Amino acid sequence: MIRVSPSILAADILRLGEELDSVIGAGLLNVHVDIMDGRFVPNISYGVAMANAIRRYGQLRFDCHLMIEEPERQLADFVATGPELITVHQEATRHLHRVVHRIKELNVRVGVSLNPATPVSTLKDILPDLDTVLIMTVNPGFGGQKFIASTLNKISELRSFAASLNPTLEIQVDGGIDISTGRQCVEHGANHLVVGAAFFNSTSRHAFAAELKSL
Ligand code: DX5
Ligand code: ZN
Repeated sequence: MIRVSPSILAADILRLGEELDSVIGAGLLNVHVDIMDGRFVPNISYGVAMANAIRRYGQLRFDCHLMIEEPERQLADFVATGPELITVHQEATRHLHRVVHRIKELNVRVGVSLNPATPVSTLKDILPDLDTVLIMTVNPGFGGQKFIASTLNKISELRSFAASLNPTLEIQVDGGIDISTGRQCVEHGANHLVVGAAFFNSTSRHAFAAELKSL
């Protein structure tokens, strides 16, 4: 079964409780929280307070996608919010191995994300240590962008590296995902789809989620 995580970046933030209820109503168990610092990406979204608010709200698990420079400076704060997965960017730290192992020591699943221009081969040596790799299918920073088709080859390449180095690796994709692009990502080896605009703008969130899960 394909995992589906709505990105709350596309939710109506003034009605966030109802939006989270609709995620549960759509039969989904987790949401994706995009943390942006205005440095690693041009945009600023929200931080630890938002992750805490989602945790306090109730039943939904969440993952924190840290689009921040030097994530090591804020790891402990984000871990304390109780995410089931923390994802950092390969491009955002000089000491990826240290950051990955710090997250593992804190007993949280760990992911590393790659921007569209960053080769999959840069993760080869750390791949056995990861739970998830997040292949960005747009340039990070904004919701509602167009899917970059050249990232599909990276998904296949990663899946073939993972076959020997980490067979249970989860491959998450994020950016411009809808039924058509989601299907292509799954065909290339992804098994976790992050969906922002296409989920929150769909006429039936339940039907949309069901279709994605069954891809
Ligand atoms: C982009 C974020 C994404 C974004 C996806 O930087 O990481 O999670 O919210 O939104 P859509 O699905 O609208 O492209
Ligand atoms: Zn994201």
